[in-house]
Order: sequence, then C-alpha cells, then structure tokens
Amino acid sequence: MFDCVAVVGATGAVGSIIRELLEAWDFPCKRLKFVASGRSAGRKLPYAGREIVVEELDGSIFDDVQLVISSTPDDTARDYIPDAVRRGALVIDESGYFRMKSDVPLVIPEVNPDDALKHQGIISSPNCSTTQMVQALKPLHDAGRVRRVVVSTYQATSGAGLAGSRDLERGTRAHLAGERHEYECFAYPIAFNCIPQIGSPKYQGYTSEEMKMVYETRKMLGDDGIQVCPTCVRVPVANCHSESILVETERKITVEEARKLFAATPGLEVMDDLEQKIYPMPINCDRRHETFIGRIREDISSPNGLAFWCVSDNLRKGAATNAVQIALLLDKLGPQALKGCRK
Ligand code: A2P
Repeated sequence: MFDCVAVVGATGAVGSIIRELLEAWDFPCKRLKFVASGRSAGRKLPYAGREIVVEELDGSIFDDVQLVISSTPDDTARDYIPDAVRRGALVIDESGYFRMKSDVPLVIPEVNPDDALKHQGIISSPNCSTTQMVQALKPLHDAGRVRRVVVSTYQATSGAGLAGSRDLERGTRAHLAGERHEYECFAYPIAFNCIPQIGSPKYQGYTSEEMKMVYETRKMLGDDGIQVCPTCVRVPVANCHSESILVETERKITVEEARKLFAATPGLEVMDDLEQKIYPMPINCDRRHETFIGRIREDISSPNGLAFWCVSDNLRKGAATNAVQIALLLDKLGPQALKGCRK
C-alpha cells in the first residue's frame, strides 16, 4: 500500500486512462494527487465518486509523495523528474527522456520484472510501439534467440496525444465536407492518408521513433546483438497500433511452436485463423489490456524466419496499463522496491 501517489500529466490522453485504471483496479494508495500544467490547475477531475482538484506542476508538490506515475512531454519530464526524485519520490515515467540512461530500468512487467528493482529513483515505461513488439519477441527470444527483426508499424493518432486525436476527427470531418482543416499536430493531413515519419530524423535515415524500437528492444531483452530494421508510419486509425513483424531466430521456431509460445505468455493473446478471417485489428483490440497476435506464418523467403501481425492498445498496454502494472509490481515487491525513496 502506497501512502501518497501523484499522477503527473493527469489531464492528457494517457493520464486520463491512468486515472481510470487506478480507480477500476482499486489501486492501493491512501492519497492521490492529480498534477498538470498551469493551464489545467484548478480543474476538478472525478475519482471514485469524488472530485480531485488538479494541481500545477511544482517541486514542492512532491515533498509528501511516495510514488509518481508520469505522462508528460519529454522536456517536461526532463525538467521536473530529477527534482521530484531528490525530494524522495520514486517516478514511473512514460516519457522517452530517461529510457536509455544506464541507471534507469526500462520495464515491461511480463518481460523483465526483475529490472524494476535496479532503479535509482526513476523507472521508465517503454515506447508504445516497442512494448507490444518486445512482448511478442520475448518468448521467441527465450526459445530460439532472436537475431534480426524487420518491423513496419501502423500507428494510431492517439499516440500523438489529444491533439493527434483531434486532428484525425476534425480533419476527417473537414475532408468529407470539402473544407480545409488547419492540422495542430501532424505535418500533413492524416485523414485519408499515411505519413511515413514519426519523430525527427535520428540516424542514417531512420527517425527517432524507429531508433527507439532498436535501442529499447536491445535494452529490455538484454541482448545488443539483436538487429532491428523498423519503419514507423502514422495511419488514420483512432486508437491501437498494428505491426507487421518478421523475426529471424538462431534456432528455427515453427508456426506451431510459436503459437504455443505466444499462447503461454502472460499478456499475449493469440487471435489467428485466416480461414475464418480471425486476426487482431484495431477495432477488436481497442480498450483491451493484452497484446494480440495473428497471421502467424513461416517466412517463405528465409529458413529461420517467422512472420506475424501484432495489435495492441497503445494508450493502454503501450502506455497507461504498463505504467500502472509497474506500480502494482512495486507494491507486490514491497519495501525493497522503494529503496532510497520515501518509505
Ligand atoms: P495540460 O493538460 O495542463 O496541458 P497529451 O499527451 O494528451 O497532450 O497530454 C500531456 C499531459 O502533460 C497533459 O496532462 C498536460 O497538461 C501535461 N503537460 C504538458 N506540458 C506540461 C508542463 N509544462 N507542465 C506540467 N504538465 C504538462
């Protein structure tokens, strides 16, 4: 049981779901604070039959806080989290800013729970596209050692925050009405379009979003030898990221073995019957906490290759659910998990 927990970024797309989950899962804490920017200070947000007033982000807020669950832009996380840690809080951070720091564990509870204990006050939750892919890779890696991954993503607009969701909805309405829409978030119209750039140019023609899939995968699976070739694409889907994944393993994994491995892995669900038109899609994975796998098949172009399709709710397992699951894991691990932080 935690004493005081703060949700930072409580008004955002992910923050709203974190609030929903804390309430739905009867999260073990005595006090709860909701924190956002000055723009939202004073707003009242419902929680378990009462209202909590949003506080403006300020260091002094954390003086009595034991645990922070944070979902803000990277620069906000960079600016406030070290101070919150100095003031005694343990921070579970959704932003990308700290993920690759050597003293910050990057955790998916079903993949590398033991890493959570290695924190120095910050635990990062991975990028949404990486989370669902690594959940699927983990049982294959344990069974046959993943050597190479080629992945193409089809990422929903909710991954770009509330402004991304507004752009899809308003842009689509405007397009159908033959009107012009000033896009808030995307560089090009997302309605009736695909944009093959998420993030900024980062390395040899790959974007920052794509390189997250390279580096974060290696960090969580603890294997720098895994080669990942990603292409990340924004598509006009409201919620849930889809991924086409091709994996090459050191030891061949057959379709039957892969299906068994996926089915036996907590957090994964197999939805795979091409004859019956059964496979995961954003419309049947929305608001679910699992990651779904379908279209499992042998790579007909290479001996040890396996291809499959993977869909997950990017706001839930890709963000809010994973962060709250880390918090529940810490609660289960008990006082040893809070070392160095306020007891
Ligand atoms: P606010 O709603 O007050 O702007 P999203 O990803 O949906 O855009 O949400 C981002 C979250 O991060 C929101 O809760 C937002 O609060 C919060 N946020 C953004 N910038 C800051 C900031 N400078 N200080 C505190 N919270 C911030």
